[in-house]
Parts: sequence; structure tokens; C-alpha cells
Amino acid sequence: MYLTREEERVYDGECGWAYQVAMKILVRLGELFGATRLIPIRSAHISGVSYKTLGDAPVDFFEALVEAGGKAKVPSTVNPSSFDPEYLVTMFPEEYKERQSRIIDLYREMGMSPTLTCTPYYIHKPQPGSHLAWAESSAVIYANSVLGAWTNREGAPSALAAALIGKTPNYDVHQTENRQANVLIKVKSSLQNEAEFGALGIHVGKLLKDEVPIFEGLRDCTNDGLKQLGAGLASSGMITMFHYRNSTHKSRLETISVEAKDVKDTIESLSTTSEAPDLVFIGCPHCSLGEIKSVAQALQSKKVKRELWVCTSSHVKRMAERHVNTIERAGGHVLCDTCAVVTWVKKLGFKTLMTNSAKTAYYAPTLNGVDVALVPLEQCVSTACRG
Ligand code: F3S
Repeated sequence: MYLTREEERVYDGECGWAYQVAMKILVRLGELFGATRLIPIRSAHISGVSYKTLGDAPVDFFEALVEAGGKAKVPSTVNPSSFDPEYLVTMFPEEYKERQSRIIDLYREMGMSPTLTCTPYYIHKPQPGSHLAWAESSAVIYANSVLGAWTNREGAPSALAAALIGKTPNYDVHQTENRQANVLIKVKSSLQNEAEFGALGIHVGKLLKDEVPIFEGLRDCTNDGLKQLGAGLASSGMITMFHYRNSTHKSRLETISVEAKDVKDTIESLSTTSEAPDLVFIGCPHCSLGEIKSVAQALQSKKVKRELWVCTSSHVKRMAERHVNTIERAGGHVLCDTCAVVTWVKKLGFKTLMTNSAKTAYYAPTLNGVDVALVPLEQCVSTACRG
């Protein structure tokens, strides 16, 4: 892999240990995937923030980077943590709170913005065509497919390294030829809601490896529906991007048809319980302003009788103040900085979870040890209001 003189100096440690380690991670990755050089990035998004998923292991490494003066060279955001600052934080031992705060402080000291969200694109929307180094698979696929930005699916270490160097190796979807669709998905079902978009993603993600699908037959797809589709694709598959707009060359592609029954069967297989849930969770990936508005509208003049969490970023929560008030007056909780997957729902005594997110339904039984029901947003809200 070609390095400029300046990059070589960093690689040789002339700019300090933190940058040397970061450069070595990027070069190793680039060589592994056949990159020819490093390219500048506009932003980085780093996963590996929740104390629940991270534990204590990487803290020494973060401390060493901070001590060695490692600072992000580009605007950098970070994924959700184990709790929100007001509600869940009061339910866990002080020790958890201290350890979570330490992780966030270390990122902050490295110049990363403590956004604590998996939807950084609602804070700063990347420009089409801009190169990024994002971790968090749901954000990566949304950035590539809906926003037209260019990012590989980084892991936590490579996103952190790219933030410190301000560059990433130019392989995979950073190159035009790797962004072309190579499989056509004919959707023969008229998707009715976001749970079905997510289920379609889970179904297709299982069928593909790391191909770039183009979808035909998606009608009435909103950005929120596409967000669920992408989150599903990136959960059950290694997919980095998809296409959904008309394209002329798709007749030459291998074709897979998806029937209404495939979507229905996927929802059924993701739903491990039909029992009444003790937690209703909306906001995976973190809610947009429009989704919070939808929850508030569905709750108008109703009272919540079960635990209801609506998760989003603090940025969107501030923008949605009026709707947040409606949800909270009804008895729901609008939580920022966290989600039901990256906190300890079982330790809080929850055994069954209802969600409108296929991604949560896919992960929660294994990562959280709870049973799950996957239903649309309106049904989540009406169930939360039934005693
Ligand atoms: Fe975000 Fe949590 Fe889902 S981090 S993508 S809301 S699992």
C-alpha cells in the first residue's frame, strides 16, 4: 500500500505512539483488503461505547491513547451507551455508572463528540459522495444507500484509528466499481409498515453474503422504512449498501423474488412470544423526528399502562420537545443516549419485549435473553396502553 512521506513518518512513530498505532491498524486493514492508498475522510463514527457490550477490556488501551495525546483529526461521533442520563442511570449500581462515564470521558478527551447515538446522520447529514469511516452497521448502510455517502463497514478499532488519522484505506465501497448493484431483489409484496421493511431486510440479508442488492417493487418507501430495511440487511448479512431507485442495467442481474409469505414468515420467526410484553421498545435505530411525532400522535389522549421506551439521540429529543412532552405526559419514557439492546433489560426484570424493529427482534433474544414480539409502531403503542 502506498504511503506518502508524511504517512510514513506517522507509521514510523515520529508523531507519537497513538498515531503510530492508529496508522498501523489502517495499513494492516488496507493490505488485507487490497487498498492501494489512504484517502481523506469527512467524519468518523465509532461503535464500542456501551459498558454492557464493551466491558473493561479496552479501557486501558483508550487511556494509553489519551496519554499519548491521540486526538481525532475529523468530526467524530460515538454510538449509544448503557443508559440515559436521567431514568435508567438511577437503576444500576454506582460502579456501572462510573465505568460508563469513564469510557465516554476517554472518547471526549480524544476529541470525539459524545453524541451517543446510532443515527449520527440526524445531527450532521453527510454530503453525497463524501468519504467517511463509520462503524455501526445500520448507520453505514443508511449513509451509503439513502444519503449517497461512501463508507465501509468499519469495526470499532478501525473507525477509531480513522478518526485519529483522518483517513481510511480506499477499498470496497470507497471505489465506484464496488458500489454497483449485483443482485436484483424483486419485492412482490406491498410492504405495509416499518416492521415489514425490517423483516424484508432480515430475510434478504440471510440470502446474500456481501453483495450489493437493488430492490424493485418497493412502493411508498419513506426514509424511516429504508432505515429499517438497511438495519435488517446489515444485521442478518454483511451488506454495506443497497439500491432502491430505478436503474437501467438491472435486467442483466441474478434475480431473487420475495413474496408476501417470505416477509410474513420472517416476522413470525423473529417473534418468539405471543405473551403480553413487559417492555415496549421503539427506537432501533434511534428515532427520527418523524417517528417520535408518530408515537406522540398514536398516544394522543391515551395513558401508558406498560413500560414504554422511545429511544433517540439528545439532539432529536431536543428538536421533538412538543412530541416528547405528549409521550411523557401519557406515561412513556423518551430515552436518549441508549437503547434496549445495549442496556441490561434482563437485570431490570424484563422478560418479554415488544418492538417495531426487526434488528432488535433479531438480536435481543441472544444479546439480552428476552423473548420478543415484532409488530408495527401503532400496535406497540396500543399494547403499551392496554393494562
Ligand atoms: Fe441503535 Fe441500539 Fe438498534 S444502538 S441500531 S438502537 S441496537
